[in-house]
Amino acid sequence: MITLKSAEHIELIKVAGRICADTLSYLSLLVQPGVTGLQIDKLADDFIQAHGGTAACKGYDGFPASLCVSVNSGAVHCIPNNTPFRPGDVVKLDLVVDYNGWKADSAITVLIPPVLPAVRKLAENTYSALLDGIRACVEGNTVQNISQAVYAARSDPSIGVIKEFTGHGIGRDIHEPPQIPNFVSKDKNALLVAGMVVCVEPIFCLGDPAIYHKKGEWNTWMFSGQPVAHFEHTILITSGKPEILTLRKEEVGLWVL
Ligand code: MF3
Ligand code: CO
Repeated sequence: MITLKSAEHIELIKVAGRICADTLSYLSLLVQPGVTGLQIDKLADDFIQAHGGTAACKGYDGFPASLCVSVNSGAVHCIPNNTPFRPGDVVKLDLVVDYNGWKADSAITVLIPPVLPAVRKLAENTYSALLDGIRACVEGNTVQNISQAVYAARSDPSIGVIKEFTGHGIGRDIHEPPQIPNFVSKDKNALLVAGMVVCVEPIFCLGDPAIYHKKGEWNTWMFSGQPVAHFEHTILITSGKPEILTLRKEEVGLWVL
């Protein structure tokens, strides 16, 4: 069932969103050649705790780290490891913060220069798909309007949409109904109502979108070996404009909703 959040619970999700956004801003500056995902993971945990939150991924279904760090053709949910980042890497950081039992979820893609123009285009296109998806997050619209907006944002047919992972509701749990696919699916459609909190998260790739993972493992990979881009925000549906609860300070002014 889709739950509407009370004003009191929304305030707690907003605090979680603020910590999540500030953590990603901080981590984005640390993604440089020679740094490892495990180092980022430790710094994330320390930063979140210093700001009064906890890393909600840790222990979620046995996930062992504070955040997902997926590099290049690592698609999503990759466990941070000790391989140093290199020039040209496409590094996705995906983080859920818990504040007093309430959660916010956000992801960014950080490009380590130099990257190929096609890779830059992929990342920019994924970010603008997030923007278009968020614009559709208005009361009276449906989940399919969000899915349609994200899918239609692809600037080029060579950009693939990974279908196995979707946006979602969020609150006490990381993943609550409704699922929000990045393509128009025939699944049950849900009306968007003020008080719902949802995560919009386009995950786009270059070329064929087929993924694989080993049974029982978190890490997922592209068959193609091509890079993936992923951006995510947590959004409050209101009777007016969508409110982005994980907006980073460096994004302020970029958004015209
Ligand atoms: N943004 C990710 C998602 O919605 C967060 C996953 S946390 C994990 O799936 F613990 F499941 F990895
Ligand atoms: Co998510």
